[in-house]
Amino acid sequence: MSTPGSSLEDRLESLRKDFLFDEAAAGRLVARFHEEMRSGLAGRASSLKMLSSFTRRPTGREKGRFLALDLGGTNFRVLAVELSGDRSFEVVRATRAAIPREDMGGDGVALFDFVAASLDAFLSGSGLPRDGKYGLGFTFSFPVRQTGIRSGALIQWTKGFTASGVEGKDVVVLLEAALRRRGLGGVSVEALVNDTVGTLVARSYEREGCELGVILGTGTNACYPEKGKDGVIVNIEWGGFAGFAGNSFDRALDAASANPGSQLFEKAVSGMYLGEIVRLVLDQLAREGLVPAPVGAPYSLTSEHLSRLVAGSPTGGDRVARAVAELVTTRSAHLAATAIAAVLLWRGEQAPGERVAAIDGSLFEKFPGYREAMSAFLAQGMGERAREVRFELAHDGSGIGAAIIAAIASEVPRKSEAT
Ligand code: GLC
Repeated sequence: MSTPGSSLEDRLESLRKDFLFDEAAAGRLVARFHEEMRSGLAGRASSLKMLSSFTRRPTGREKGRFLALDLGGTNFRVLAVELSGDRSFEVVRATRAAIPREDMGGDGVALFDFVAASLDAFLSGSGLPRDGKYGLGFTFSFPVRQTGIRSGALIQWTKGFTASGVEGKDVVVLLEAALRRRGLGGVSVEALVNDTVGTLVARSYEREGCELGVILGTGTNACYPEKGKDGVIVNIEWGGFAGFAGNSFDRALDAASANPGSQLFEKAVSGMYLGEIVRLVLDQLAREGLVPAPVGAPYSLTSEHLSRLVAGSPTGGDRVARAVAELVTTRSAHLAATAIAAVLLWRGEQAPGERVAAIDGSLFEKFPGYREAMSAFLAQGMGERAREVRFELAHDGSGIGAAIIAAIASEVPRKSEAT
């Protein structure tokens, strides 16, 4: 830590050290990641939950029209997807709406009522009868302990959601109850899906050989087909990884968050938190008298603001903000690349060959220079092997994948029908 009297340049240099995540650190992180994967898969205590998705990658022959709900980021989406059965699909219609803040943090029943009301509006907007029969895939992008393809309990909220009465409950039961309250009893929930799994499945529908589904958006996480589980896709929940020790700013962010002590990796990587880390740094610099004005309320600086800062050519105080934004987002890109490398290396021991990671989320898709920083770091850390790795954008994959998994699951008899 520098003293208040030190120059701004010295202070920026010390921050550079605070936010440095280099190759040596990456090597240590990969080793720790593999240990945690191993423990999680074996059912031992681990910060990586390694949750079964109860589904495998699709064949590309799945066919039909399905609805999908996508809940878990900043926006809530409803989609109707037509699967051709020959590796192509069409998003027939899609709507998105910001989730009301009071529903994220209020009563869980209200949150599910909002979901059902949005689906209702979607059906009438599409000219579809509300008493029709529809198969639906439900993307619910939080840690869920699934007990089957259509059932699973929320372990713990992440990404600032705190709605009451949902943790520990089967979220499909909650959704179905809300659908019935809304008079949409003809909608049948065929599949419960994490967004990473949707992303991997959507890309795999179009082409073979995709190994990893990754989200780099409001939150961050990944999934992959685990050979030891006969190819069943495992949701890693890497946002919870505890093998990365952050700095004093990370600790301050965590302490003031809705879920202190949880999701420490996510808090250093994902879009929901990057602006807040930058704000905390600037706030500290202001207290040290190195930059002028105060910098606003918690979470007032978003990753969209950071995007604009990094893309522009700022002067004065913004020059410092830009330098800090670059430190924080570069560290995020390096951490994300390292976690991807860790999973690909794990898979590599199981099945050598080209490695494709399907990635969705606004950080990866939109943040200036983010993707390039990831690729460059991967190349440094993995050497020759990085040549085999391809990042592919799977835009809206999480919802599309839910429709595909609904198609797979609708072929599987429901328990009550099977007996
Ligand atoms: C959070 C959720 C996880 C999700 C990720 C990306 O980490 O816990 O389930 O996949 O965000 O949306």
